[in-house]
Amino acid sequence: MYRKVTISEVKKESDSVCTLRFADSTPAGPGQFVMAWLPGVDEVPMSLSYLGGSKGITVNRVGDASAALCSLKKGDTLAVRGPYGNGFIFRKEKRMLAVGGGAGMAPLAPAIETAAGLGIKVTTAIGARSGKELLFVERMKKCSQVLVSTDDGSMGHHGFVTEIAADLLKKEKFSLIITCGPEKMMSKVFDLASRYKIPAQASIERYMKCGIGLCDSCSIDGLLVCRDGPVLSDRQLKGTDFGQCWRDACGRKIPTR
Ligand SMILES: Cc1cc2nc3c(=O)[nH]c(=O)nc-3n(C[C@H](O)[C@H](O)[C@H](O)COP(=O)(O)OP(=O)(O)OC[C@H]3O[C@@H](n4cnc5c(N)ncnc54)[C@H](O)[C@@H]3O)c2cc1C
Ligand code: FES
Repeated sequence: MYRKVTISEVKKESDSVCTLRFADSTPAGPGQFVMAWLPGVDEVPMSLSYLGGSKGITVNRVGDASAALCSLKKGDTLAVRGPYGNGFIFRKEKRMLAVGGGAGMAPLAPAIETAAGLGIKVTTAIGARSGKELLFVERMKKCSQVLVSTDDGSMGHHGFVTEIAADLLKKEKFSLIITCGPEKMMSKVFDLASRYKIPAQASIERYMKCGIGLCDSCSIDGLLVCRDGPVLSDRQLKGTDFGQCWRDACGRKIPTR
């Protein structure tokens, strides 16, 4: 069922990323997503970057739907359904490492806040192409230790965020790793988690149509990302095409970039 929400705030996070906030009391957990529908444009899955009564989605402008979402103003309306899917699961972890790349920080931010609220000590490694594109650094500093990396060296470590993760794992013990970002990056994080025998969870993107387990378009070797994910564990993803390929709107397999 769709509900109409009114945009209460638009925040420009960087040249290509914006956050839309809207009042919505529907219960949601960290890592869940909504289907955001702009009639006449498209309907796309969007992770919730803020939970609670004033929810938020953080949109990276790459094509038609994301550009239309980024053009919304305070007072405009948007149709949403959900939240859907399974989010991040926290048990009795003491130390957690969160690794986010680019707009991948959208689902990670509320997960890190939730984990910190449960008493888990969190280290957050945030990566982006440049310092201007780093997402939620100040927000994450309020609940975790933060390290940043940039591809161009304009802020923090000059290089990939996975290099920060590799360095941290050499020095410190973690009981859980969570990640979201480009799939090649997440795949590398899973390799590190496997090397250090630490359970890992990733928020995965796949092409979605229905969002509720009916159409099979988001299938990843038998798992449906909309229903079984979008957060999937290392155990669930073992032996799948995660990190290697995904399916386009027609179901054709495309190598992961
Ligand atoms: C569970 C889930 C959660 C998601 N959460 C978010 C979120 O929080 N924020 C967000 O911005 N997006 C998120 N997405 C992606 C989003 O649903 C759309 O796929 C994305 O906005 C592109 O739609 P579009 O119509 O704007 O671009 P399209 O017309 O689909 O694509 C335009 C061009 O951009 C490329 N492209 C498509 N997607 C991406 C991408 N993710 N990164 C880089 N290039 C891309 C395409 O290959 C194409 O060349 C999520 C997807 C899933 C499955
Ligand atoms: S989007 Fe239809 S089954 Fe997942």
